Amino acid sequence: MTASAAEVYGLALADESATLRARRPDGSAIRLALDRWRGPLAAADEAVLDRARAPVLDVGCGPGRHVLALARRGHLALGVDIAPAAVRVARLRGAPAIEASVFARIPGAGIWGSALLLDGNIGIGGAPDLLLARLRELLRPGGEVLAELAPPGVAATSEQIRLELGDRRSEPFAWAYIGVEAIDEPAQAAGFAVAERWHDARRWFARLVAEGQPRRARSAYNTPDAANSAPVSSSQRAR
Ligand SMILES: C[S@@+](CC[C@H](N)C(=O)[O-])C[C@H]1O[C@@H](n2cnc3c(N)ncnc32)[C@H](O)[C@@H]1O
Repeated sequence: MTASAAEVYGLALADESATLRARRPDGSAIRLALDRWRGPLAAADEAVLDRARAPVLDVGCGPGRHVLALARRGHLALGVDIAPAAVRVARLRGAPAIEASVFARIPGAGIWGSALLLDGNIGIGGAPDLLLARLRELLRPGGEVLAELAPPGVAATSEQIRLELGDRRSEPFAWAYIGVEAIDEPAQAAGFAVAERWHDARRWFARLVAEGQPRRARSAYNTPDAANSAPVSSSQRAR
């Protein structure tokens, strides 16, 4: 049975014992971190939030753990997520969040101080250069992207994946993975400089600062699917 990725994800979020997997084109599966997305922040997440400059846009906020923590710190922050169920859960937790694709109309274009791309969200749309170019439009001059990336050595990859929950399977959608050392090219193409890279608790991050002009070139990735992406964490291991 096939459904949209947002539907399958929504069913998984509603079931505390659900196991949600992403099926890759080579047949391997990645178990997705529903518990982590629904749970509290780790110290490494707090260290990312320490770097954020308000107002903060949490792109692909899921159930809202980062935007909730920012709000509790007293920062102006907004989560945006394409999946209605994720936004519902985020709001129930008290997190400010709206249902939208990051590629659609987002309030406050040009005012955001930081945009978060955490837990694999550089993969949204399957083309990191296009995603970063979109964030460049949303950020104010000098604004920053705080991105969680794959470990060094992971080449930029874009592929069509499906979500699986029991016997339910989603339509395929594009997702990307990129290692922390490979982020320079898409960042520069989108008008960002890589200001910092760090690792913390076996996770890898970069801070990208909007400076210079974006290059208006075609994406280096094939078949970006900006309107129909869903959740996958690049920090997960294939099972
Ligand atoms: C890997 S989950 C990360 C959740 C959250 N950032 C966290 O760390 O707890 C990816 C999220 O991105 C959302 N997403 C996928 N495509 C999107 C898009 N085009 N615009 C906004 N959100 C999107 C998914 O619905 C999902 O909630």
